This record gives sequence, structure tokens and C-alpha cells, in this order.
Amino acid sequence: MLDSLKKFLPRVKAGKRRKTAGVRKPKKGEILLRTKSVCKGFPGVWEHLILDNIDFDVKAGEVHALLGENGAGKTVLAFLMSGFYSATKGKIYIRGKSVSLKSPKDALDRGVGMVHQEFTCARPLTVAENVALGLRESNLSFPLSKVEKKLEELSERYGLKVDPKAKIEDLSAGEQQRVEILKVLFYEPQVIILDEPTSVLTPQESKNLFAVLRNMAKEGHGVVFITHKFEEVFGASDRVTVLRLGKLTGTKKTSQTNRRELARMMLGRKVSVHLKRKPVKSRKVTLEVKDLYALGPKGVSALRGVSLRVRRGEIFGLAGVAGNGQRELIEVITGLRKAEKGKVHIFGKDMTNHSPRDILEAGLAHIPEERRRVGISEPMTVAENFILKDYRTSPFSKRSFLNLSFITKHVKKLVSEFEVLVPDLWRTESRILSGGNIQRLILARELWREPRLIVASHPTYGLDLKAIKHTWELFMKLREKGTALLLISEDLDEIMSLSDRIGVIFEGKIVGTMDAAKAKKEKIGLMMMGSKAK
Ligand SMILES: Nc1ncnc2c1ncn2[C@@H]1O[C@H](COP(=O)(O)OP(=O)(O)OP(=O)(O)O)[C@@H](O)[C@H]1O
Ligand SMILES: [Mg+2]
Repeated sequence: MLDSLKKFLPRVKAGKRRKTAGVRKPKKGEILLRTKSVCKGFPGVWEHLILDNIDFDVKAGEVHALLGENGAGKTVLAFLMSGFYSATKGKIYIRGKSVSLKSPKDALDRGVGMVHQEFTCARPLTVAENVALGLRESNLSFPLSKVEKKLEELSERYGLKVDPKAKIEDLSAGEQQRVEILKVLFYEPQVIILDEPTSVLTPQESKNLFAVLRNMAKEGHGVVFITHKFEEVFGASDRVTVLRLGKLTGTKKTSQTNRRELARMMLGRKVSVHLKRKPVKSRKVTLEVKDLYALGPKGVSALRGVSLRVRRGEIFGLAGVAGNGQRELIEVITGLRKAEKGKVHIFGKDMTNHSPRDILEAGLAHIPEERRRVGISEPMTVAENFILKDYRTSPFSKRSFLNLSFITKHVKKLVSEFEVLVPDLWRTESRILSGGNIQRLILARELWREPRLIVASHPTYGLDLKAIKHTWELFMKLREKGTALLLISEDLDEIMSLSDRIGVIFEGKIVGTMDAAKAKKEKIGLMMMGSKAK
């Protein structure tokens, strides 16, 4: 298939330069991009405006953080500024000139590029091929070898290490994120907007990314990044703008504000997470993985003798840098990947290499890492997605008829408990939900049944504080009722707050297991990098 695709790749000589090339370099502090009283509505979907009178600007040389709860309108604002959506009302100015952006390509030509919340690359193609595909309609057409060369230069210049010849499907989330950024940098934009760029990155990768963003600002770019995390705002931005349910609640110099003020601007009230942990006695093993071996995507061994046990009423946190076998481990447990050797026992029954369906029916709930791709079916409505796993059973259906009144009641209850922002359960396609609202939907669907075994991969990525608090508390409640939870996360704070026991995975092996109460963050960090437990 690849070869047939390759012939569509551009082989034209380097042609015209883009419109902004050769234009005067902006002075530090010059406003590069500005929105004036911008409104966005989706009539027929929502009754209210999704963005209401937004005045926002980005200056040359600054990193500007955009903060807000799930569904506040951050992604929509980014879409408006980068040509994916057009505003219902209001104006957008690029370097002082009023523009109407016709397409993302048009925005790129004018020097504004956006890196998306979700990955957008074609998985079977290489990094360079993906960039080249994007160039097809552009006036900047290069042969593949030139694309590769330019990518190498860019990755060198900005410290974004990626092999242009690597296939996307073989890359870790962190590497894919770098590709997404390089794809935009390829156009040399003056303004770069990144939508939750760190949500799939390890702490170290995030640190590197912010160094890259700082570097870009120093070179005179304007950088906007969307986030939920205060540490990132205070660690990496010069200014911060807060949105709340479609309204701008303020723009501050980062050095002149604090967490409490930002929390108030975001939520209107304070949220603090305090978890109560009651001892749970049972010693019964719910999930047992014994000496498991499995191959990874490139056919190299990804799991090399993993053993672990999660008991009833226990949260087992698996810490590790992405790409050390976590993904393969989950895939084998949930039946999506074959084990080469070893066993998976669920509730005492051998479920090794059973079908995902069988494993689901045995009582395992799975919260996957890749939400849009694995967690939901995008074209289906929100209500349909809510009952994806239940519709075949009573009371959801009877004699192959859906019990609509029951389903509606059920879904309404979940929507209100998990605070999913959705205009119409039966008409809204889940595609239009914000990233965090999709995760809320998945959590609601997986957790309402009070499953006795949960495998959760980064369950709170992309969630705002309030939703994190809700999820953590729910996990604790389920734990008290006897649910076993295998928690995979790179967020050590999350692992340390929730877990009873912590295991560290490195290069396909568990290199140490410890009681969470006695665990030290620094030590876990070291073990994640490969140092052995004593
Ligand atoms: N194409 C669309 N049609 C209708 N509604 C939409 C569309 N795109 C977004 N919305 C709605 O606009 C609101 C704001 O969405 P947006 O994606 O900007 O949120 P966000 O602040 O990025 O949230 P998150 O942190 O969860 O990603 C949401 O309620 C969403 O469902
Ligand atoms: Mg978003």
C-alpha cells in the first residue's frame, strides 16, 4: 500500500515561497495575532454561544498560556485563530491587519500554525511522508528527500528529536507529539498554537518541550499553549488567559498572579483534592500476571517476564516512562495483543489470549489511552456511545428492541453525575465533544457498573481539576467496595496519591514493587530510569 501512496507524494521542485516570507521580522512585544470581540456559536446544536466576545492577543517573544475547564472553549478559540473554524461575529487581526481566515492552510500562509490535541498523522506512513502529504495542496512542494533534510534541520534547531524516516505507528506518544509540532514548524509560522501539548508526555518530555517553546519565543515567535495544569502556567508562560464556559475571565502577567487567583477565574470556586483511604482487608487476588512475554509493534520483545498481582480492594500503580511495555501489557491483559509466553488470570480464571469480548464479559473495565481512536466511536451519538457496551443486555434492550426510555434515563443520570457537557444526547455526535468531555463519557460508561477490575491508562489526562477530583474519589469509593485497579500513569503525583502498592516497569520488566505509604518519589523516578530497587 505504501508504494501506491508514495507516487502521490510531491516530486515538484521547490516552488514559490509563502506569502509572509521576506516580511519584516516582528519586534519583541509586537502583537502578532489578536481577536476582537470574537463570538462562535453552533446554531442548532447549542443554544448559547460557545465563545462570547473574546479579546485575546499573542505577542512576539512571549509564551501565552490558555487555561480553562473541560468544555470552556479553548480548542474552539484555537481553531478560530488557525483557520479551522470561522467566527460567528468579531474580528481577527494578524500583525494589525484584519483577516478572514479561509482555511488552516490560509492561516499557515499568514504565519499561524496549530498543533492539535489529538494526533493527526497517517499511521502507516513515515514522518517525512506525512509532512509531504500535508504539502500537496501547498505552494511549497518538495521532493521527499528535501522534506527529510528540512525535518532534520528543524529537529536539530529546536531540539525535537525524531527520525524523519520512522513510521508513525512505531513511535511513542511523545515522539508523535514532536512530529505534530515539526509538521507545523515546517511552515515556519510566526505564531504557533499548541493544544494541550503535554497531555501525552512524560514529565521529562514536557520539560524538554517547554524549553523548546521558550526557545521559539526567544527567536521572536509568539507561542500559545493550552493547558489545565498550574505548574505549566507558572513554569513556562509569560502571560496567562483564562476562559470559563465560553467567556474570557481575564488575562494576567504570570509573574503577577497566583494559583488561587487563577483557580477562582477558572472555576468560580476552589477545588482541593483530599483523599480518604480506608484500609481494605481482603487478600483475594483479582488480577494475576505471571511471567508474561509479548512482542511490541516492531516485533521486538516488549514484555520480558512481567509478573504482578492486584488484589481485591487494591490500587496498584504502575509507574514507568512511556514505551517500556505498559501499552503491550494492557493490550495483552485486555485481549488486544497475544502473549508469547506466560499467563493472565482474572478472578482466578486463566484468560490468557482470550478475545477482548470474553475478557470484558468476565468483568474487566478498560479505560484506554487513546480516547478518540479506541475509547469511543466518533460518528455515533453521545447516547449510543454511553451504551456501547450494554445495549445487548436487559434492561437496555429486550427481545432485540432498545428500551429507549430506560436508556435515556440511564444516560441522563451519568451525564449529570460526570458533568458531561452535551447539547442533545440522541442527536449530538460524540465527535463534537471537547477532549475532556470525551474522557468523562468513557469514565462514566466504564465505571457506573462498579466493575470489579479496572485497567486504567492515564485516566485523568486532559481532565480539569474538578473532573480529576471526581475521578479519584470514585476510584477510592470503588476500591472500598472491593474493586481492583491497575493504574498506568506517568504522573507520579497521581500514582502516589491513589496507589496502595506501586510497581515500576522498565524495559519490559517490573524492576521493583513497594508499599505506596513508604515510597519515595525520587527513588521511583530513578527506578523509572533503570536503576534497580534494593
Ligand atoms: N463542531 C462543533 N459543533 C458543536 N459544538 C462544538 C463543536 N466543537 C466544539 N463544540 C463544543 O464547544 C464547547 C467547547 O469545546 P472545546 O473543545 O473548545 O473545549 P475545551 O476548552 O478545549 O475543553 P477540553 O479541556 O475538554 O479539551 C464544548 O461544549 C464542545 O462540545
Ligand atoms: Mg480542548
